[in-house]
Amino acid sequence: MIAAASMGSTSFDYRAAGERLGVRVEREVPLRTHTTMGVGGPAAWVYYPRTMEAAAAIHHALGQGPLPVRILGAGSNVIVRDEGVRAAVITTRDMRQPPEMLYERRLRVSAGQPLPGLARWAAEHELSGLEFAEGIPGHLGGALRMNAGANGGWIGDVVEEVLYAGSKGEVASRTVRAEDFSYRSSIVAAEGLFAVGAVLRLNSGKRDEIRASMKAFRNRRRETQPVTERTSGCVFVNPGVEPAGRMIDRLGLKGTAIGGAVVSETHGNFIVNRDAATARDVLALIERVQDVLRDALGREPRLEVEIWGDDE
Ligand code: EPU
Repeated sequence: MIAAASMGSTSFDYRAAGERLGVRVEREVPLRTHTTMGVGGPAAWVYYPRTMEAAAAIHHALGQGPLPVRILGAGSNVIVRDEGVRAAVITTRDMRQPPEMLYERRLRVSAGQPLPGLARWAAEHELSGLEFAEGIPGHLGGALRMNAGANGGWIGDVVEEVLYAGSKGEVASRTVRAEDFSYRSSIVAAEGLFAVGAVLRLNSGKRDEIRASMKAFRNRRRETQPVTERTSGCVFVNPGVEPAGRMIDRLGLKGTAIGGAVVSETHGNFIVNRDAATARDVLALIERVQDVLRDALGREPRLEVEIWGDDE
């Protein structure tokens, strides 16, 4: 089916699907330009909706075609193989209209909104609850999917409604509770929803206090993480017994390199694309670290990053 689509023997017209809905579409796009790690081959098609409505509509339209449909946000948690993906990819990167204040500290936010910008916007409006997100290199959509968190907070704490692409191409809504989110997972991932946005519930706060805690988080992140390098954030979820980064450090793996990929000397749970790494380098290095962690833990360490590619 997929091979047939790529050979053009299908009647589904991927370019027309975007054009008909006013969604920009590109063909054979190198995904290294769409991920923070900066590796990875092409996607067959990439779509750039600007609104939640357009995202839901294009998602529905592409669902009628033979290629798998994949969603990409900031690409800060995804490693794409060098061979790329035969898929129709919807990126949320252009879905960044300013947050809309609804009522009583409720914000309607689009999936492509970068988290640090959102946290700063909230601070300006004396809204507290997003301080933890300062410096997280992701967008709201990905954060909803993996329940992004840092500094003792996570996005699930402030989500009241998830807005997602409904089965008829509409923006559907689902009220959620804290139990719908867990450590690095959520109802969005469990049910395979395409989250096009969310309604967040924040608290009143004092601008200066909010800014002060954001500044402290920013400084701490700069000291403890390789924030100026190309990475995909933490590679493994913390396995419970001990933070993965500390284990990797203790097991002497920092600085280990394969090709252009290096285990960060700053934080053990980060792999850095330091010298024009390929996805092959990065994935081989992940496997090497994984082997050592598996021996130390006595079980399989769980990846936090997603790996995209046709033989995943
Ligand atoms: N540590 C070391 N060596 C290292 C790294 C860490 O000894 O190389 C020690 C630290 O000194 C600290 C402990 O391990 O005592 C935990 O480290 P850290 O505070 O950096 O937190 P973490 O558990 O490694 C988590 C999240 C990060 C988030 C930070 C800050 C996971 C997998 N990671 O890291 O999230 O930014 O807390 O709140 O849960 C991400 O999701 O991509 C991510 C980076």
